[in-house]
Parts: sequence; C-alpha cells; structure tokens
Amino acid sequence: MRHTQSASLLAALLSATTQVAAHGHVTNLVVDGVYYEGFDINVFPYETDPPKVAAWTTPNTGNGFISPDEYRNPNIICHENATNAQAHVVVGAGEKVNVQWTAWPSSHHGPVLDYLARCSGSCETADKTELEFFKIDGVGLISDSEVPGTWGTDQLIANNNSWMVEIPPTIAPGNYVLRHELIALHGAEETDGAQNYPQCFNLQVTGTGTATPSGVLGTELYTSTEAGILVNIYSSLATYTVPGPSLYSGAVSITQTTSAITSTGTAVVGSASGVASGPEVPASTITPAPAYTAATAGSSSGTQSLYGQCGGINYSGASACASGSSCHSYNPYYYQCIASA
Ligand SMILES: *[C@@H]1O[C@H](CO)[C@@H](O)[C@H](O)[C@H]1NC(C)=O
Ligand SMILES: *[C@@H]1O[C@H](CO)[C@@H](O)[C@H](O)[C@H]1NC(C)=O
Ligand SMILES: *[C@@H]1O[C@H](CO)[C@@H](O)[C@H](O)[C@H]1NC(C)=O
Repeated sequence: MRHTQSASLLAALLSATTQVAAHGHVTNLVVDGVYYEGFDINVFPYETDPPKVAAWTTPNTGNGFISPDEYRNPNIICHENATNAQAHVVVGAGEKVNVQWTAWPSSHHGPVLDYLARCSGSCETADKTELEFFKIDGVGLISDSEVPGTWGTDQLIANNNSWMVEIPPTIAPGNYVLRHELIALHGAEETDGAQNYPQCFNLQVTGTGTATPSGVLGTELYTSTEAGILVNIYSSLATYTVPGPSLYSGAVSITQTTSAITSTGTAVVGSASGVASGPEVPASTITPAPAYTAATAGSSSGTQSLYGQCGGINYSGASACASGSSCHSYNPYYYQCIASA
C-alpha cells in the first residue's frame, strides 16, 4: 500500500512538474527548405561534446522563461546563462527563416518578436552583453473581438507552431545574432507576471545591402512597467503596443506560412567571415586549384578566396578554391571554400 501511495504521489508530482515545465523552445530552423537542427534541450546539456549548431546554448532544460525582474540581467539576451552558438547558418538578405517551436500552450497569449544584432567579428565569440539589437518583426494583438484576443502566439500555433521572419533585404552582409522571442502575457496583469522566451541563432547574412541599423543592448530592450509588458489581456484592449524599441524602418512584414523541408543542412563551423570580407589572399600566392565538379558547384572560371562561396543552386561564380582551401557543401544553396584539413 505504501508503495502504491508513494508511486501515485510521485506520479502527481511528476505531472505537476511537467505542467510547470511545459512551455517550449525552438527545435530547428528552416531556410529555403533546408532544415537546420536547433539546440536540443533534452539531449545537448547532458553531452560533453554536443553538436555545433547555429542555436545558442542554454542549461534551461526546464523550458522556463525570463521574467521582467531580469530585464537588466544578461539572461534576457538569449535566455538563462546562454552561451554563444558555435556555428552559423548562411542566409541571404531578403530571405525568410522559419523558426520551429515545440507545441506552444494556447493559454500563453502574447507577442512574437524578432531582432538582429550585428557582430563586429564572429558571432561565435561575440560578447552578448555588447550586442545591439534592432527589431525586425513584432506581432502583438491581432484581434480583440473576443477577450483575451488573438495574438502573435495564436498565429504561431496556427502556423504549425512556427514563425516565418524575413531578413530585411536592405541590411549589410555580415554576421548577426537573430534574437527570436515569445512573450506570454497570461499573468501580465501583475508586476513581473510577463514571461519572456528568447531564443538566439547565429546567422551569416549575404547580399548587397548597405544598411547598418542602430540597436539597443539586450539588457535595455524592455522595462517591467511598459504598456506591452504590464497589461491585463483579460480586459478588452483598445490598443496594444508591442514592447521594446521601435521597428527598424527596413523591416518587412510578411504573411505567416510554413516552410516545407526538402533537405537537411549543417550549420557552418569555423570562421564566420563574410563572403565579401573574407581574408584576402595575396594574388601571388593564388595557384589554380582543381575545379569542384558537383552539379551545383559554380560554373565560371577563376578562383574563390578562403571563406568565399564556391557553389550552390543558381550560384554562377568561381568554383575553384584558393590554394590551401577546398569547396565544402553546407546545403544545396551554399558551398564555401574552407581551409583544407
Ligand atoms: C545559471 O547560473 C547561475 C549562476 O551561476 C546558477 O545559479 C543557475 O543555477 C544557472 N541556471 C541554470 C539553469 O543552470
Ligand atoms: C510542422 O512541424 C513539424 C515539427 O513539429 C514538422 O515535422 C513538419 O514538417 C511541419 N510541417 C510543415 C508543413 O511545415
Ligand atoms: C534559380 O533560378 C531560377 C531561374 O531564375 C529560379 O526560378 C529559382 O527560383 C532559383 N532558385 C533559387 C533557389 O534561387
């Protein structure tokens, strides 16, 4: 009898724990149909040498949240005790990134936000407390015809628990941290009742844009008393102001869609130097390397420098890599010259 009792007590405790813990996290990104694994919170924290992915690492195995009393604490930047991702995904400015969540609880209504912060060097080594984020997306209250209303998170749930965000076409190529965030407001009528769920990813943005929008530090994004944070969503709201800094003028608002997965890609490990800003190889040291002959490799003659693109669908530039480097396929859309082993 005692055993039965303690077993059912344990079961009750476990289920209570599960309910408390069952909020969510991002499982993967999809860019142009290419699937990139996220930070596997159920596995990676227990591994001594977890895979290098574009998602930042956090020991937040309970799927918890950051509350407003931590808005001045670095935990708000990329979640609790987060450390830099050790790889990045290459994405063109103007392309869309689909961010896949685990099943989001329908009671957790609130805004969906996306920010970018440019890293001065590699985002793999950037100091998160110095990153300056500019907002590229913010969807709050969509309809309040029925309290508590239809919110960004409801749209996310309806969109297969995923969110599509467009990388602004105007921004300069380079390395960026994508800070994607859900804020649950079901308890936000009380001070410190809002729940922030930030998730960060390293991106290398390619393209020909020139804009370098100014941003704000992660620890200065929000205040605990601003209108979009301290708010009672169970009363009818005439308006709702998405919290945080104003939207970057070049941000592109898009209709939510999903992204069918057509292949699996690997995040790029190693130097995150932009294609345009990759280390220069003195002309005298360039010796022609054998052409890389994959179907999607580049087609024109010439030699690509280290970290430059050397292939991918519709890429027509040089496919040969400078001496000492070789062409590596990361996904069907992007091949890069990397240092030869
Ligand atoms: C984050 O770091 C603090 C300070 O070292 C520690 O007390 C806390 O337990 C850590 N959180 C997690 C989820 O590991
Ligand atoms: C919906 O999400 C699941 C993962 O939760 C994924 O396997 C599936 O491909 C997604 N469907 C679409 C249409 O994106
Ligand atoms: C490749 O080029 C073709 C023809 O211009 C275009 O239809 C297709 O969308 C391009 N694919 C990608 C991945 O850019």
